[in-house]
Amino acid sequence: MKQEISFIPREELKAKPDTASLGFGKYFSDYMFEMDYHNDLGWHNPRITPYEPLTLDPSAMVFHYGQAIFEGMKAYKTPDGSVQLFRPEKNMKRFNESCDRLCIPQIDEEFLLEGIKQLITTEKEWVPDGEGTSLYIRPFIFSTEAYLGVRPANQYKLLVILSPSGAYYGSQLSPVKIYVEEQYVRAVIGGVGHVKTAGNYAASLKAQKKADAGGYAQILWLDAKENKYVEEVGSMNIFFKINGEVVTPKLNGSILPGVTRDSVIELLKYWNIPVREERISIEEVFAAHKRGELEEVFGAGTAAVISPVGELTWKDQSITINDNQIGQLSQDIYNELTGIQLGKKEDPFNWTVKV
Ligand code: COI
Repeated sequence: MKQEISFIPREELKAKPDTASLGFGKYFSDYMFEMDYHNDLGWHNPRITPYEPLTLDPSAMVFHYGQAIFEGMKAYKTPDGSVQLFRPEKNMKRFNESCDRLCIPQIDEEFLLEGIKQLITTEKEWVPDGEGTSLYIRPFIFSTEAYLGVRPANQYKLLVILSPSGAYYGSQLSPVKIYVEEQYVRAVIGGVGHVKTAGNYAASLKAQKKADAGGYAQILWLDAKENKYVEEVGSMNIFFKINGEVVTPKLNGSILPGVTRDSVIELLKYWNIPVREERISIEEVFAAHKRGELEEVFGAGTAAVISPVGELTWKDQSITINDNQIGQLSQDIYNELTGIQLGKKEDPFNWTVKV
């Protein structure tokens, strides 16, 4: 039997931010969804509760051994004023894959999605409708048991918070500069790179700092074994258009299977544009540029949407892609995906789900 989701009202609602100054992940709505896990009780006490600071035991296991996972999704306001989600069942499934990898108890995917819909219904006024904006949804789970031995915890908390957001990188479709990292690695096969653990992002910070210092927006990660094959960009998957064909690294157990990545591949197939998922070396990318065949490079992710790459630096070589302009295909994919997400274009794939 499904549990009832209770509602705990807050005394005062917050002022909403100005849509033009949203940025990414800076503002949070009035309420959050909360649920707890205890070995004896399973997942229990689902509730929509005021967004507020938490109290945790200093020995809560998450602080010590890092059992923490998250998801990223978005809700969009459509022209008729309704709100919709984009392929949310894929995020629920990946959330459980992350749970599995970190020995966190499985969640009921359908029930959590229902909880998210109820939360968004409560927070409908927080879904922005300015150009390039959406309500970013961040479900996450962490271990709360007070204990210092190393083993899977017996207690967890699941939260879903909402953040009205605009572009992840300053301006949505301006090409970004990316730097190919060779000293550090993001993930190894057999590790946790294929799921969304908080630790993946902590491990990326040192290299990101180097990238920031060089004026780069992000890092392009290579495989950990040979330092040769392209993996992903950390906040997005990567695509190359080479001589009319699109190539993206094949999922290999250390790359995150992005929902936007999958949607781009489906869209390209639907348009009959050749698309291949395969191992591609950074050497081949630079060689394609030398031959004049590297037409476009773009990233794809929930937060980033479609982000054109205008400059790529590897060792001491820098290449400029498509004159540092967004390519036609990147623009078409962006228009189609955001058109479907915002309910402005037909959705032949049945990707959108009304709240
Ligand atoms: C997302 O695209 O939703 C992500 O989780 C990437 C994030 C680190 C901003």
